[in-house]
Amino acid sequence: MADTIPSTGQFALIIAPKGRTQNSIVRHLMLLLNYRYGLDLLVANSFYEGFSAVQRHGSRLVCAAAILDRKTDSRTSISSLNLEGKLPLFLIIPEHTKAQHEELCYRLDDVWFVTWEEALAADAPGSLRRMVERVFAERNVGELFSAEGLALPYEQMQERVAQRLRNVKTLPTLPEVAVRIMNMISDPESTAADLEDVLTADPAIVHKLLQVVNSPLFAGSGHKGDWSLHEAIVRLGMRQVNSIAQQIKMMNSLVKPEESPFDLRRFWEHSVACAVIADRMYRGRMLSLKDDLQFSDYWIGALLHDAGKLILGFFFWEHFEQLLGYMGANQCTFREAEKATGDVANHELLGRLLLMKSHVGERLVETVATHHTAGPQPSDLVCLVHLANELSKELGFGYLPDEPRLYAAEVLRKLGMETSAVISLRERLGRDLPDEIRALVDRCTIID
Ligand SMILES: [Fe+2]
Ligand SMILES: [Fe+2]
Repeated sequence: MADTIPSTGQFALIIAPKGRTQNSIVRHLMLLLNYRYGLDLLVANSFYEGFSAVQRHGSRLVCAAAILDRKTDSRTSISSLNLEGKLPLFLIIPEHTKAQHEELCYRLDDVWFVTWEEALAADAPGSLRRMVERVFAERNVGELFSAEGLALPYEQMQERVAQRLRNVKTLPTLPEVAVRIMNMISDPESTAADLEDVLTADPAIVHKLLQVVNSPLFAGSGHKGDWSLHEAIVRLGMRQVNSIAQQIKMMNSLVKPEESPFDLRRFWEHSVACAVIADRMYRGRMLSLKDDLQFSDYWIGALLHDAGKLILGFFFWEHFEQLLGYMGANQCTFREAEKATGDVANHELLGRLLLMKSHVGERLVETVATHHTAGPQPSDLVCLVHLANELSKELGFGYLPDEPRLYAAEVLRKLGMETSAVISLRERLGRDLPDEIRALVDRCTIID
């Protein structure tokens, strides 16, 4: 069997013989079942493996999905896969075999047909997503972030996510050291000496950190570049040094799987651009914000706002590439492309999952999870990150060279901005920032 059986919890069984179309349907099912419903998956390569899984683990299965490339003759096989009508079974079949399958399964309960042709179609009523939604809704199988799930107190929601996603292998956590440093910020007891202790245990971080904090971007243009770690903490404050240390750790420890062509350098340039722009706008008082924001919140929020794309780019490359293709052909943003192609597990949702799994605080999670879908009353933090994200594309730092931008009306309204104000912001920021952003990415990553 391709995967081992999850030791606890409920799961879904997928039966998929090898093949290109089968593969894309499996990836789609993974996005849907893993991330939207928080179900563990068991993938079997043949009917035979599927039966034995159903026999042994029937009570823990929520559904089974079998991808067939031709008509089966055995009504008995199908009915034992769906436990004689007790387990929802999705049969994903080529259109031309549908009538025969319907005839074969006549009067079998809880067997649902989805054609290969319609399975991945964005909004077709017969698409996999729609079919699964309908069948699960009837059986009260809730989405991980249903309206009711999102209304839970944060700790409970975090608990629920942790429990349901224990075995999902494609959901990495952020590097442990970065999270440890991050938690120090929220601990009022931690001191500059604690931070120095944690950092000096990792000389590679300190080396890069000193290069970054001594650059004009942080130390000011007249600075000679000789702060020690201690001086940097005294001058810039713990939060700022802390956040830069996390940034360096994250940029140097997230490793892309070899088979993925995802452009990680480009990803970090976009994320760092977003952080630098947010910082420049906040400190330069370029926006009418009311809240006092913390450097650590907007800096790390901006750096990680697209963390969900890492999951897509690392583990679902084909899907990611299709989204890029759609963006190019339709001149739209990545988020719009996700919506138009079915929004199975979009990068805001994936970012929410990734950050919650890493036990990051609620404010950061919400910022990442709503950086496009800001909602009717976005917080100042969300407004700042949203605007910085779109402006980073204006300055040529999208994942694609000339990426379309889409400013959320709610954000512009809250900030009292007209289009002309956005244009003048772009001009102010566009002068010296692009070179500084590239230099910052170099200082954080290049070994010298
Ligand atoms: Fe995004
Ligand atoms: Fe972005």
